Amino acid sequence: MKRLAILLSGRGSNFEAIAARIRAGALDAEIAIVISNRPDARGLETARALGITAVSLPSKGVAREEYDTLLADEVERHAVDLVCLAGFMRLLSPRFVRRFPLRILNIHPSLLPAFPGLDAQHQAVEHGVKVSGCTVHFVDEYLDAGPIVKQAAVPVLDSDDSDSLSARILDEEHRIYGEAIGLILEGNWRIEGRRVVAGK
Ligand code: GAR
Repeated sequence: MKRLAILLSGRGSNFEAIAARIRAGALDAEIAIVISNRPDARGLETARALGITAVSLPSKGVAREEYDTLLADEVERHAVDLVCLAGFMRLLSPRFVRRFPLRILNIHPSLLPAFPGLDAQHQAVEHGVKVSGCTVHFVDEYLDAGPIVKQAAVPVLDSDDSDSLSARILDEEHRIYGEAIGLILEGNWRIEGRRVVAGK
């Protein structure tokens, strides 16, 4: 059974969607560990309620490189096949990323490369785009920049604010993250340039 680490900082609804997909038998994997850099993250409580090992590893006041070493050590202890960032609101340093090459996924609430960084849904509304969405991508050393595994688009309506657009995008996030994880775990893919394409 393939093993996942989930890294989160807050609500944890993407984590819950992944856990539900596993329970439903639609994703052949187990969540070995949930780690949060914020001790008060709701996702930690949810994990414990589901009987999943949950670790609080506070990042406050710890230097980035030092934190990333602690985090990578913790992840490694659980011998996972894939690290899934699910609302993990920290940029990972090269020190972390290099320890798990092509083994870290992230979900971002925009159609990358549009609107990287914070408040992507707000950026989309402000910019006046008519379509936005979400992206699952491999994490490399740059912000929201690694090879794209899956995307889903949603319309942006005239009546939207950042909250209503976020909710529409979130439904798609919950669907495509589990699908993307399944695809990567199956292993029938390769990287060509910066593209993720089907086939070994
Ligand atoms: C999600 O919308 C996710 O795409 C976003 O944070 C939210 C977390 O929600 N991530 C980023 O913006 C990363 N740059 P959740 O905790 O309920 O899964």
